[in-house]
Amino acid sequence: MIISVTSLKGGVGKSTITQNLAVCFAHAGFKVCIFDVDTNQSAIHWSGFRPDEVPSIPVVGQPDGIELSKNVKIMSKDYEIILIDGTPSLNKLSSKIILLADLLLIPILPSGLDIWAAKTFLERHHEAEIEKEKKIPAYFLMNQFQPNTNIGKEVMEVLNEQQIPILKTTLKSRTAYREAVIKGLGVIEYKDDKAKAETVTLFNELSKIIKKL
Ligand SMILES: Nc1ncnc2c1ncn2[C@@H]1O[C@H](COP(=O)(O)OP(=O)(O)OP(=O)(O)O)[C@@H](O)[C@H]1O
Ligand SMILES: [Mg+2]
Repeated sequence: MIISVTSLKGGVGKSTITQNLAVCFAHAGFKVCIFDVDTNQSAIHWSGFRPDEVPSIPVVGQPDGIELSKNVKIMSKDYEIILIDGTPSLNKLSSKIILLADLLLIPILPSGLDIWAAKTFLERHHEAEIEKEKKIPAYFLMNQFQPNTNIGKEVMEVLNEQQIPILKTTLKSRTAYREAVIKGLGVIEYKDDKAKAETVTLFNELSKIIKKL
């Protein structure tokens, strides 16, 4: 199972979500690894800080994306779950990341700018499905959601009208996501119960989706 976490905008939480999901899969007993296609290689740094007592998560650094498909294929012989931490640019590499995926996750922030980027993403996703001659299941994931703000509600309304569904689980803005990463941890291995609970909820929702694929 190849899960690509991608977007057309930077700083939406791709690396944070990739790392936290990888930790959930590892604790659930899956063999999981990450492909870090991000130019700043944040997953590699994060993985290097993981303490000995938590499951180790191998990260393949691949900032240029050369031979990405071949390398992903090789790793998928040994790993049940491959998470690709995507790049935010609109280039060939981002198309490759979409094409490779069995499941796509598109984090989005509650902002008008993100909605515009999401619409461009939908076109890219549609082109990829035509090229692959196959559906590529994709879900938006609202990150740093502020449920009681007008922008939060408006963005949700616009997303609900798009052809790609939005996951029921939303992630709030929490310091734990920023702190856990420095220690090489996922939030389920950290001390904030609310961050832990929403990440487990996200993992459970995704697990149900994966079972149906
Ligand atoms: N739910 C959250 N609550 C608080 N901070 C968050 C949350 N999600 C992400 N962040 C923080 O927002 C910043 C951007 O997140 P991240 O690096 O995961 O985004 P990205 O999409 O991978 O960015 P890039 O496009 O640069 O690779 C980071 O400082 C991260 O710690
Ligand atoms: Mg990143």
